[in-house]
Amino acid sequence: MRLIERQALVGGVWQEAAEGRTFAVLNPASGLEIAQVPDCGAVDAQAALDAADLAFKSWRKTTAARRSAVLRRWADLMLAHQEDLARLLTAEQGKPLAEARGEVAYAAGFLTWFAEEGRRAHGSVVPSHRGDARIVVLKEPVGVVAAVTPWNFPLAMITRKIGPALAAGCTIVIKPAEDTPLSALALARLGEAAGVPAGVVNVVTTRSPADVVGAWMRSPLVRKLSFTGSTATGKLLMRQSADTVKRLSLELGGNAPLIVFDDADIEMAVRGTLASKFRNTGQTCVCANRILVEDGIHDRFAAALAAAVGALKVAPGEDEAAAQGPLINAAALAKVERHVGDAVAKGAIVLAGGAGHQRGGLFFAPTVLTGMTSEMALAQEETFGPVAGLFRFKGEAEAIALANATETGLSAYFFTRDLARAWRVAEALEAGMVGINEGVISTEVAPFGGIKQSGLGREGASEGLDEYLESKYVLFGGLSA
Ligand code: SIN
Repeated sequence: MRLIERQALVGGVWQEAAEGRTFAVLNPASGLEIAQVPDCGAVDAQAALDAADLAFKSWRKTTAARRSAVLRRWADLMLAHQEDLARLLTAEQGKPLAEARGEVAYAAGFLTWFAEEGRRAHGSVVPSHRGDARIVVLKEPVGVVAAVTPWNFPLAMITRKIGPALAAGCTIVIKPAEDTPLSALALARLGEAAGVPAGVVNVVTTRSPADVVGAWMRSPLVRKLSFTGSTATGKLLMRQSADTVKRLSLELGGNAPLIVFDDADIEMAVRGTLASKFRNTGQTCVCANRILVEDGIHDRFAAALAAAVGALKVAPGEDEAAAQGPLINAAALAKVERHVGDAVAKGAIVLAGGAGHQRGGLFFAPTVLTGMTSEMALAQEETFGPVAGLFRFKGEAEAIALANATETGLSAYFFTRDLARAWRVAEALEAGMVGINEGVISTEVAPFGGIKQSGLGREGASEGLDEYLESKYVLFGGLSA
């Protein structure tokens, strides 16, 4: 099956943008063009919405079993094409192939999970407050969903919205990130082959997101927005959704603390920090951003981490030995350079990396900094790059205060061998997700999401389906014998 698609999918028709414009998708490792895709605008956005609205009328009436079968077939097709999807993903996103293969499996997992969950979207029978009445609660699909998805997981961040939407009986319009539209289009092609009816899933590519998403935000036809991306954009979309009172799922930025206590298993802590901080070259919203290390273990941990980071192979993701790929674009590189420059200017010490990698282009050398303080930009903002900044602390109370000193609260991690401390600290951390002695905790079976300015709602798990369902209370009256 051909997996490089160069057209948008609207109402079951692969098509160019109404105004005929296109834009280039680049390989971040080489800077070379991979393909041109449609640069859609408001007209295309409206056409996709009309198609999704029409399809909703019939899709919502299909049985849960039918929807489940379609999602399962789609997941199976993804796994059957795992290698092709992974290579396409690496080409446009840059992550090492091993991680791209992992993402295909992770992404398919959401379809399988929600194929199962959708069959168990039970309503309920409520004990009535009156003898002559009975109460039932029905679960109904929210309606047409708009999904706006990021470039760092071009497949998984889409399937974790499509899976629950389709399982619930909703239809969806998707705007993939402009850096990575090809994975989204390939996914849609597989969905078509799996039997997703026309209009149920629509993919509108654009490099003018305000035109497309703006049209969706203004429309009363869109009943729910699911967005993964920055906190700043999330706030804007939240404001825009007010006029039509849309349901919202917002997976926004983080500034994750990772705490290494004196009693940690040092090898485990180094392994977990590498996994968390350097996954996808530091470009995930759950990557550790501030690494807090207790005084007694600090120097040994810093030396071990710097040795491990220095050994990471930096290369184009297509190189099977690559552990770190390029950053996604010039703006991402500039932010990483700014954070490192600011930290060094304010007294941080470079133990590894510290500058652009010798490969040039968008490659940055994996970096370890010590002597970090809360005045530095990295302490305040998510770096989204391969920079591990180590902050020294003394005692549990200081660790918790430092960890919570942020407006965001997505994920947090800590390493300890003390069971009582594990419970205490897990409960004290202001985060939606906590990893104890583990650096990567994402899975379709657990609720993913944040508190504070990291967003609203949860994805994955049974909670993920609820986000796409409304409860309708129905009272049967006049039942007296
Ligand atoms: C994200 O970075 O937005 C998601 C990462 C994950 O699912 O692990």
